[in-house]
Amino acid sequence: MIIVMLGAPGAGKGTQAEMIAAKYQIPHISTGDIFRYNIKNNTDLGKEAKKYMDEGKLVPDELTVRLLLDRVAKDDCRNGYVLDGFPRTIPQAEVLTSELEKNGAKVDYAIDIEVPDENIIRRMSGRRACVNCGATYHIVYAAPKVEGICDKCGSKLVLRDDDKPETVKKRLDVYHEQTQPLIDYYKKAGVLKSVDGTKDLHDVFADIVTILED
Ligand code: AP5
Repeated sequence: MIIVMLGAPGAGKGTQAEMIAAKYQIPHISTGDIFRYNIKNNTDLGKEAKKYMDEGKLVPDELTVRLLLDRVAKDDCRNGYVLDGFPRTIPQAEVLTSELEKNGAKVDYAIDIEVPDENIIRRMSGRRACVNCGATYHIVYAAPKVEGICDKCGSKLVLRDDDKPETVKKRLDVYHEQTQPLIDYYKKAGVLKSVDGTKDLHDVFADIVTILED
């Protein structure tokens, strides 16, 4: 099962992708997490990606596509995977479609998590991310057991650099301009499913499971 998560920054793609991955035992692949891992480890890829991410812009397609195709070629992706943050442009979606076609595969579900922009800005200021493993929390809606500490690895939780309100606004603009057209792209492909992302996160997950098991 190959699943693409769609939605604005902060719509809950990462939160839901992680729950899907755990339930169906498939890898959760987040291009944002891969970039952040490389930034933390000061790799050449990380240095290049940081220039764009800090300004709320997209990392160039060429770099992102190469990285993604390498990742999905790994053994653990044999039975499918859930993509979070990829594709983010029509050219990225076209490359994914044509690469999958070479193996007789396709995206089975593109799940669009719908959340209005006003909710997004409020949500992002409450998000906290683990400096070590990247796990995501929310100070109100998905709080860690101990304030400021990751439940999974015990490391510190911080506000992401690109979650400052001015960068979030820029990311929303980029989303509407470059990523939202993917909703039509996957609608035409007959695999688009939409869920109401303003519900409680467990209710959103229940709606997604209904779609996947229908
Ligand atoms: P990326 O990390 O992918 O960021 P994003 O798409 O902007 O998405 P987010 O991670 O911000 O949000 P999310 O939808 O996963 O929400 P979450 O589950 O955390 O990308 C970062 C940057 O990397 C990009 O700006 C770009 O520069 C670059 N990049 C990445 N991929 C790229 C690509 N393919 N091409 C080019 N550049 C790329 O939830 C948000 C918060 O809300 C959390 O605190 C969560 O706990 C809370 N929450 C979740 N669901 C609910 C709910 N139902 N109710 C209340 N709160 C909720």
